Amino acid sequence: MPSLRNVLQQTHRTLEASGIPDARLEAEVMVMNVMRFPRAALFSEQEAEVPAQQEQALAQIVDRRLTREPLAYILGYKEFYGVNLLVNGDVLIPRPETESLVEHALFMALMGMETPELVIADVGTGTGAVAVNLAIHLAMARIYAIDNFDPVLDVANYNIRSHNVSDRVTLLKGDLLEPLPEPVDLVVANLPYLPTARIPTLQPEIQWEPAAALDGGPEGLDLMMRLLEQAADGKLKEQGIILLEMDPEQVAPVTERAGQLFPSAEVSVEKDLAQLDRMLVINCAAGH
Ligand SMILES: C[S@@+](CC[C@H](N)C(=O)[O-])C[C@H]1O[C@@H](n2cnc3c(N)ncnc32)[C@H](O)[C@@H]1O
Repeated sequence: MPSLRNVLQQTHRTLEASGIPDARLEAEVMVMNVMRFPRAALFSEQEAEVPAQQEQALAQIVDRRLTREPLAYILGYKEFYGVNLLVNGDVLIPRPETESLVEHALFMALMGMETPELVIADVGTGTGAVAVNLAIHLAMARIYAIDNFDPVLDVANYNIRSHNVSDRVTLLKGDLLEPLPEPVDLVVANLPYLPTARIPTLQPEIQWEPAAALDGGPEGLDLMMRLLEQAADGKLKEQGIILLEMDPEQVAPVTERAGQLFPSAEVSVEKDLAQLDRMLVINCAAGH
């Protein structure tokens, strides 16, 4: 039987030779997964033998990965903000940059908003990544998690239940803010924002993800602009806040539209972990 060290090295080489990004990290995650080892054991158990059954399971994972299927779809989960979430091909794989959206929403909720019971809408919830984390960290919040596709809502439902937050997270099906039964204090949204024509030019892994989670229309702005209109039309409380994740190039047009729809709000831009303009904050309370 080969040693864990050899299997790890071989897996790394195979992935790297096929041009898989982050080949070492992915090899480690794959081996941890089939061996059911915690990360630390990968280094302390280098001489452990890898049984044939685990070797076969690893070979199947590697074969799928060489077709450029994302690792999160193969393993069936993705860690986001310290929480493991079920993922499948119906949902977008939560991205690290969206963790900034969660951080900022938590900051706004804990420091800035003077309301005993915060009502939040997570629009385009996907796996429920944002809603689940906000519910975990904000004991006083009620959260509506909205998406317009049943298979996506099934995944969100699973994640909401498995993290024990279903008492405070309500799933709604419909178009953006339209299904909300009441105005909310805070809207957080990572909506599809890729321009349609850019999608086929992006890395092969992205082509596995659902178009409905990526495609924001010709300029990538369609959903964000409609969401702002719905928010201004009574879905956001007068002193409410909107946090929108977007492409850095979209900041200017979305800021302009926000200024028209919320003339007395303070509009600011936040950067992501890569120091790129990534989030627009429309704060209707600050302008008062
Ligand atoms: C970019 S994904 C974000 C998923 C999740 N919030 C995250 O950050 O990982 C966008 C989500 O918006 C949903 N969506 C697309 N159009 C929508 C619409 N008109 N109304 C509600 N949700 C929509 C998609 O199904 C998808 O789950």
